[in-house]
Amino acid sequence: MSFSIAVASGKGGVGKTSVAINVALSFAKMGYRTCLLDTDFGVANAHILLGIDPKQNISDMLQNQASLLDLCTPAPFGLRFISGGSGMVDVLNLDNSSRFQIVRSTEMLAQSTDILIVDVPAGASDATLNFVGAADRPLIILVGEPTSFMDAYSLIKAAFLEADIKHFYLAVNMANSEAQAHDHFSRFRDITSRFLDVQLTYVGHIPYSNALRQSVIERKPIMTRPDPSRETIAFQKISKSLLSGPLNRTNGIRYLGAPSTQETVS
Ligand SMILES: Nc1ncnc2c1ncn2[C@@H]1O[C@H](COP(=O)(O)OP(=O)(O)OP(=O)(O)O)[C@@H](O)[C@H]1O
Ligand SMILES: [Mg+2]
Repeated sequence: MSFSIAVASGKGGVGKTSVAINVALSFAKMGYRTCLLDTDFGVANAHILLGIDPKQNISDMLQNQASLLDLCTPAPFGLRFISGGSGMVDVLNLDNSSRFQIVRSTEMLAQSTDILIVDVPAGASDATLNFVGAADRPLIILVGEPTSFMDAYSLIKAAFLEADIKHFYLAVNMANSEAQAHDHFSRFRDITSRFLDVQLTYVGHIPYSNALRQSVIERKPIMTRPDPSRETIAFQKISKSLLSGPLNRTNGIRYLGAPSTQETVS
């Protein structure tokens, strides 16, 4: 059975897209049929980090000129990528029904996809909440700064209150050490559990890394490097942690279509 992961953060620039593409590549490398959807419409940039050049994007689907399947662009390890379009004003502020149409259209991926990863825009706008709320496993990226804590908390609170999401997965990015990442997570969980009845699961950390920064500049994702490194090991660990754990199965519209009762992919 298939499931979806939405990568979100509240605060911008904390590494959502870097995590989304490298976790997606890690799943693809493990043999899972993986698809990555960029919902940062109009200013989408995951394709740049992936080093590919999609010919079509979500705008073509919304104008009825292509189906979602037509938009799938091949990426390394058999990953399929769907672009949100960049430098485009017509998809910058999509209305509710267009967002609904995009989430619903992912049903046609269900037969051919084990894992759908969605790169979600920063903030806690209606668009962000729609794209987080439709996911089985929301992955929140945290960095050790008060602004990141505040914005991640606001996003989780809004997703809990407005989309009834109770389970969140957290990864700490740009950490100096595993111990520091754990410390950030524990502090964040303490704050959150004081006010919200949600469950947070820690899935790992990504070290602060000049190599990761360089991979963005070179447009060669770090997961495509043949030799193992602390970065690739970190992304593999996060991917494996995301294969199990509770799924949010709310009654609202969901990626990949009808909810299933199973809890893990095999
Ligand atoms: N672990 C890391 N170590 C060092 N730099 C990192 C790390 N993760 C991400 N970065 C850098 O941080 C910057 C922002 O990363 P990225 O674009 O992935 O963030 P984002 O959350 O998707 O941003 P936005 O909110 O604009 O979509 C990039 O320059 C990237 O190279
Ligand atoms: Mg991004």
